Amino acid sequence: MFAAAVWRGEPQPVAPDRITVKTDTSLPETRGLGRIWREWPWLAIGAAAACALIGLVTLIVVETGVFDTAATTPHSPLVTWATHTTMVRSVKLRAASVTPPAPFTSLQVQAGTDIYRADCVGCHGGPATSRAPWARGLNPTPPYLLDASRHWSPPELWWIVKHGVKMTGMPGWDKSLSDGQIWDVVAFLEALPSMPPAAFAQSPPSTPAPSGHAATR
Ligand code: HEC
Repeated sequence: MFAAAVWRGEPQPVAPDRITVKTDTSLPETRGLGRIWREWPWLAIGAAAACALIGLVTLIVVETGVFDTAATTPHSPLVTWATHTTMVRSVKLRAASVTPPAPFTSLQVQAGTDIYRADCVGCHGGPATSRAPWARGLNPTPPYLLDASRHWSPPELWWIVKHGVKMTGMPGWDKSLSDGQIWDVVAFLEALPSMPPAAFAQSPPSTPAPSGHAATR
């Protein structure tokens, strides 16, 4: 009623100084992309051109073979940073929903040591045990895991071992190890920093190591 009366220009039952006369007849302000287009057209054109250029460069890199996929050629620092940071953030995000286990028992550490000697030592080495020579041909080279438990929580280690890491050579072990066995491996990784080389060496592998020639220093 009130609005209609204002529209018709009828006198209103309010003090004159409270009546505001709308003189701006322009359309309501455009928001979002429309506004960017209206106010900064060159910015919008530039952004679209940049996206098209990135797409074109990607297509050229993929189709022409210009990118060197040889494992013997190191990654550039930028690619190393981007891939490693992506992996760290990805693991931390996904492992957040893994329930941390009860404190590990010495039986779990023993079982995990056996599994590690059978499945992991060729790539990652162990206390006083070097990696297999071929592991240095992987790119990235598998790291020694002595201090892995300082960088990663038990759920994060469990998630890495269970799912592996794409495009690195780190397998996901969920096809050959049960969840419980993977926790055993994590128990081993947690015990690793204080494990004497002799204790690692004395633990006989339950199955032969895949490489069969992991050198012992
Ligand atoms: C064929 C080689 C290979 C085998 C076998 C292997 N790994 Fe790996 N692993 C890798 C590579 C390569 C990386 C590095 C991944 C990266 O840089 O993101 C890695 C990374 C890891 C990491 C993360 C280390 C860190 O500090 O970022 C853990 C933990 C790990 N492996 C545990 C294991 C365990 C436990 C086993 C055995 C059950 C195993 N790996 C077997 C190649 C291997």
